[in-house]
Amino acid sequence: MKINLLSIFFLLTVHFSVFGQLKLYGENYRPQFHFTPDRNWMNDPNGLVYFNGQYHLFYQYNPYANIWGHMSWGHAVSKDLIHWKQLPVALYEENGIMIFSGSAVADVNNTSGFGSKKDPPLVAIYTGSTDTLQTQNLAFSTDNGLQWKKYNANPVLNENKKDFRDPNVFWYAPDKKWIMSLSYPVTHQIAFYDSDNLRDWKKLSVFGPAGDTTAVWECPDLMQVPVLGQPGAYKWVLLTSQNAGMQYFVGEFDGKKFINENPINSILKPDFGTDYYAAIAYHSTPLGKPVSIGWVNNWNYANEIPTYPWKGATALPRILQLKKINNVWQLIQTPVAAVQNLRKQPVVYVNKKISKSTEQLGFKGNVWEAEFVMQPALNGETGIQLAVGNGLGLTISYNPFNKQVTIDRSNTPDYFSAAFADRPTSTATVRLINNELKWHIFFDKSIVEVFINNGEQVFTVQIFPTEENNAINLFSTGEGAVFKRITFWPIKSIW
Ligand code: FRU
Repeated sequence: MKINLLSIFFLLTVHFSVFGQLKLYGENYRPQFHFTPDRNWMNDPNGLVYFNGQYHLFYQYNPYANIWGHMSWGHAVSKDLIHWKQLPVALYEENGIMIFSGSAVADVNNTSGFGSKKDPPLVAIYTGSTDTLQTQNLAFSTDNGLQWKKYNANPVLNENKKDFRDPNVFWYAPDKKWIMSLSYPVTHQIAFYDSDNLRDWKKLSVFGPAGDTTAVWECPDLMQVPVLGQPGAYKWVLLTSQNAGMQYFVGEFDGKKFINENPINSILKPDFGTDYYAAIAYHSTPLGKPVSIGWVNNWNYANEIPTYPWKGATALPRILQLKKINNVWQLIQTPVAAVQNLRKQPVVYVNKKISKSTEQLGFKGNVWEAEFVMQPALNGETGIQLAVGNGLGLTISYNPFNKQVTIDRSNTPDYFSAAFADRPTSTATVRLINNELKWHIFFDKSIVEVFINNGEQVFTVQIFPTEENNAINLFSTGEGAVFKRITFWPIKSIW
């Protein structure tokens, strides 16, 4: 009897732990090839640094709950920017001071003195935040980022401000100095500082207000970006985030100040979707180009999305390059090539002609990648619908009259949040090249990413369809549309 009870208890325990593990990463809406923490809330990517063969991804994390709060730095590492291994929390909230967003650098010359030249430290620069004060602080690690110590003379920068945050630091080789970009959110400005040792900072200049000033400015990142097709040519890009979307500026940096070279009133967006925020970049990578990672969400409803037991994901890492189009410097963003290693057997359609009709394809799924070239109708809208079923679906279409691509999720479930329902569409102006539009689409359970014309425009959008809504339609309300070649790849899970 005793043995029986014990063995039943044992079996039950094994069953629940195995069952529990199987369930994680198999839940409704759980992305299969995007990073999500196993449990609890995440927002901004932080401290993106490549060191000793590993990409480190830190992120705003609540270790205790599936809503924003108790901000700490979660931690994951990857060798290819696609497969991630989650590690223990790197930096915890302490004494009521939350660990807000920031960056991390490999201090290879040990300028900070936190390590040695032989064992250079990783140094994190983050905002310590309370209800009344935000200051900049340091923490360091001498074991490849596993264990972190907060600097005992923190803060290193304090201007007695309530809103003063998100330090982003890089090494500026011409002057042999560290440069920090830092946000004054309320006045829509980015300040630049320099330092020899990461501990003592001197203010250099302030950029802004400029571009989109409709909401607080957060998460600046200033970096050198290569010009596409011109080896050795670079410009400087400054990324900022404004509460529910992002913008960027392109120009020069002389070690002291940033000079914007695009038209003063133009607003350039790295992403036209509803759900792309707080992206920052790995400045130096083995790929020879910066690679950015954004948070797939929107502050207007981020806490309400119906995902459990986690909330928040990172977008696919994007290679950043620049190109002058119509006399304006524009970011060209392409997903890192390593994502192609997840492709399963492709399904190909050729020469699909669609006139005033809708055609459902034989291929179905909710974890896939697609590439296609389309000659749109010139007298009506042409596009693709995904997550189709039970009369619902997401519509992605090109309109020849206003030359815009629109992603419309109004016909997908939105019951969980009025703010989500309030943002049904996203739109961007695109160009046809030889009467064609090139598409690269990723669908991962609840994340849709659309790259147009090899990364001239990008959209990131969340949707929350049921699993069985997985059909795909091609449609056109006009005549003469041709999908020249469509390739779908089902994608392997990274978990
Ligand atoms: C951006 C942001 C940052 C801040 C962090 C707090 O999403 O508001 O400005 O450091 O999130 O979690």
